[in-house]
This record gives sequence, C-alpha cells and structure tokens, in this order.
Amino acid sequence: MNSTSPVIIAVDGPSASGKSTVSRRAAKTLGFLYVDSGAMYRGITWKCVKEGIDPRDTQAVTNLLIRIKMELLVKDGAVTYLIDGEDPGQEIRGQAVRESVADIAAQQPVRVYIVSKLRDMATFGSLVMEGRDIGSVVFPDTPFKYYLDADPEERARRRAAELQATEGATDQAAVLSSLRKRDQKDSSRATAPLQIALGAHIINSTGMSIDQVVDVIITDLRAAGVIP
Ligand code: CDP
Repeated sequence: MNSTSPVIIAVDGPSASGKSTVSRRAAKTLGFLYVDSGAMYRGITWKCVKEGIDPRDTQAVTNLLIRIKMELLVKDGAVTYLIDGEDPGQEIRGQAVRESVADIAAQQPVRVYIVSKLRDMATFGSLVMEGRDIGSVVFPDTPFKYYLDADPEERARRRAAELQATEGATDQAAVLSSLRKRDQKDSSRATAPLQIALGAHIINSTGMSIDQVVDVIITDLRAAGVIP
C-alpha cells in the first residue's frame, strides 16, 4: 500500500448487527466515504419490484441489468447511486424490497454487477464499506476486515426499534423470525454467502456501545500507521 492508494475498511455481518451505525460513524471520524453495499442490492430489488420482475427469474433479472444504468455519485460523505436517473430513497427500506432482496442478492449476475460497481468506488477515495462479502469477495486484500455480530434477540430488538421509528408499531417476534429467515438465506446461498472473511477481526457487539466498536477500528488503523 503506498500513501496514495485508498484505504478500504470492510465491515461484514448479519442483519441489524450494528454495521450501518458503526460504519457511518467510523467513516465520519476518519474522513473516509461510507458505502452501504446492501443499499445497492436493495436498489436492484426496488427496480425489479417496480417492473414486476420475479426476483427468482434469473433471465428476467439479467435482462434488467443489461437495460438499466446505475450511476455512482458522492453525496453527504457517502457513495450512493441513481438508477436510470432516479433516487429510490426510502422505498428501498419498504416491505416489498425487504421480502425479495435476499433472493435478488443470491442471483449470480446481480453479484457480478454489484461487486464491480463496489470495486469502482475505490476511485473516489478511502472507504468504509459494509455488507456481507466485502472482506471475503469485494476487497479480499484489504488488511482492515471486521465481522460484526450480535445475539439474534439483540439484533431483533435493534431492528424493531428502527422499524418502530419509521413505520409505527412493530411485532418483535415477527422481526426476529424475518431476520432469522434472511440470515439463513444469506448464509446458505451458493454464491458469496455471508461468512467470516479470512483474517477478519470478529466483534460481538452485544452489550457494546457504538463508540466502543468504532474505537476498535480506529485503534487498529492507528496501530497500522494509517492515521496519527
Ligand atoms: O441492514 P440489513 O441487514 O437489513 O440489510 P442490508 O445490509 O441492507 O442488505 C440487504 C440484503 O442484501 C441482505 O439480506 C443480503 O441478502 C444482501 N446483501 C448481500 O448479499 N451482500 C452484501 N454485500 C450486502 C447485502
């Protein structure tokens, strides 16, 4: 790594393990760009839902990938995107996308398409990128890999609180069951399953504050001489 090459921090882990909050805060502290790779898979899913494409129909999904234009841009300290000139905004967090995203993310052509976009983002500068396969597939050579986990009940509590704020009343038992289902799909798929990347620093954040987790990352970067 020379002084001009971008530094990549890979943060992987299951749903609601705290990746987004930790990655955003770490990126802000370091002056790096934040990347939510899940939002990319959600964006493709949003487009499929909008066009009535069955998320399991590989041929139809492939045709969509050929047809659309996914454009990258930097906004508010993060790398984000437009699909055919449109910003899907909060629609990517809605139920329709939530239910189909794991099926879309399991499609090989979708993975090839998104992984290439994610790698292109390094041209914008140093990144904190969160996802499921960032340390294992997207940037396997980065020395800064983290696998963030938390107990399923803790994750369901966190996700229910988020949904409560955005969608009103939520049923925590239903949230736990939906998280387990998605974890199961993400961990068992043939292509780029959720796994602990070789050399990843494993952090179980149950009972840890966001700042404590961010500090683990900052301390590693300091020890490596990336930051003073
Ligand atoms: O925040 P949450 O865990 O609900 O999901 P997300 O990070 O927005 O990711 C949504 C879905 O995209 C995951 O359930 C995975 O199926 C998929 N994904 C993936 O396959 N690979 C990534 N690098 C990121 C997300």
